[in-house]
Amino acid sequence: MDYRRTYLKDLLTGKPGTLVEAYGWVKTRRDSKGVSFVQLNDGSIFTDLQVVIPAGTINDDDLKKVTTGSSVKFDGELVESPGSGQSVELLAKAVTIYGEADPATYPLQKKGASFEFLREIAHLRVRGNTFGAVMRVRNRAAYAVHSFFQDRGFNWIHTPVITASDCEGAGAMFAVTTSMEPVETAEGTRFKLTSDDPAEDFFGKPAYLTVSGQLNVETQCLGLTNVYTFGPTFRAENSNTPRHLAEFWMIEPEMAFCDITGDMNLAEEFVRSIIKDILTHCEPDLAFFDQRIEKGLIETLTHVADSDFERVTYTEAIDMLTKSGESFEFPVSWGCDLQSEHERWLTEKHIKRPTIVTDYPQEIKAFYMYANEDGKTVRAMDVLVPRIGELIGGSQREDRLDVLEAKIKANDLPLEAYWWYLDLRRYGSVPHAGFGLGFERLVMYLTGMKNIRDVIPFHRSSGQAEF
Ligand code: 4AD
Ligand code: MG
Repeated sequence: MDYRRTYLKDLLTGKPGTLVEAYGWVKTRRDSKGVSFVQLNDGSIFTDLQVVIPAGTINDDDLKKVTTGSSVKFDGELVESPGSGQSVELLAKAVTIYGEADPATYPLQKKGASFEFLREIAHLRVRGNTFGAVMRVRNRAAYAVHSFFQDRGFNWIHTPVITASDCEGAGAMFAVTTSMEPVETAEGTRFKLTSDDPAEDFFGKPAYLTVSGQLNVETQCLGLTNVYTFGPTFRAENSNTPRHLAEFWMIEPEMAFCDITGDMNLAEEFVRSIIKDILTHCEPDLAFFDQRIEKGLIETLTHVADSDFERVTYTEAIDMLTKSGESFEFPVSWGCDLQSEHERWLTEKHIKRPTIVTDYPQEIKAFYMYANEDGKTVRAMDVLVPRIGELIGGSQREDRLDVLEAKIKANDLPLEAYWWYLDLRRYGSVPHAGFGLGFERLVMYLTGMKNIRDVIPFHRSSGQAEF
């Protein structure tokens, strides 16, 4: 068996009359008089291959093993398909069974299983329509992300997963330590502290899983000019929402000699470019999402790909919200953080398209953002989109040494820990800007999937680390 062979994707556009081998997992088998029909899929494309098995072609013992979930190979001939939806089907001549799947226990039997249930069998769900489609779109989006930046001369930087600094200052960090180990006791597994002195710990100081690669990537930016990270990110936030994960992937571009305007331009061009790529390359999957998950998805994405995003300041956004007459769960006033309900009202009900909000109050944003002359706001920019809310968070960075030092102190952060970050402002400082895009939120936006847990193979969130 060689990986260099024809996959279902290619078989479906093959010439009638060709003798082929078709490998895959059985979606369904239907027996009618004198003939059996099998829907076969290998994950290479959304569309199943219909396999027609005239009675007597395959012996009964083998045919019985061709059940939902079993893995098989059919040898046969491509023939013109009388049915709609596909141009060819496979007239089977022989079958090889690789693995049976007992219909009495195979968990992925019934159609229309809930997403909640499918999360419990995340190791199998990729064989179904929805998750196969999600993973193909996810894959293509990742490819498109790299293409976008590589085509524009951005260097991909691998920032550390383990870090000693809290980039976002939000405190939602997972500690990384060897000072604590699980021990078996009569009461079950317990944690034992081997030392409470960080100096004796593995890294000689408290260390964490990164919440953002930004501070690190800024160092590479101030030497390579245009850079980006694309890697896993961790946040121990207990927000049990359909938009938060404890482990997610983030894309963080950073540009030197660039201000907030250039940052917004990049963000907009980036999102629209990925959408265009997916519209071009994931057609069968998008058609499914459009039909079954989010009606009108393709039309919306096509429209977004072709039109400018709205740009408003935070102050203007607050004004719109207070005049909206809506009763929000979280009341709105200048200085408050925008909640997802506010972000969605702005983009879904009011502005009705992706919107970039700029110049947020300093108090609700991270210490590294460039302070505006008004002494109240910073050059932050969030990209909000319908259905999701915040897709991107970014800013122009504070590049003035004295201002940054003051901000670090004002945020009660240890100045010493940021010595290298401050060095960037001490030596050859330049205006620079960047942003972070949550990859799973992007995949949600592209597919119409409603829960972030369903756009990553194995989700990690509070109370959930199975698989
Ligand atoms: O807005 P955030 O916190 O920005 C940063 O981390 C900056 N350091 C980025 C930068 O300027 N380089 O996060 C960026 C994006 C959010 O807009 C959101 O899409 C996503 O990351 N995100 C999450 N996605 C899934 N689960 C979570 N818990 C997320 N937290 C943030
Ligand atoms: Mg943010």
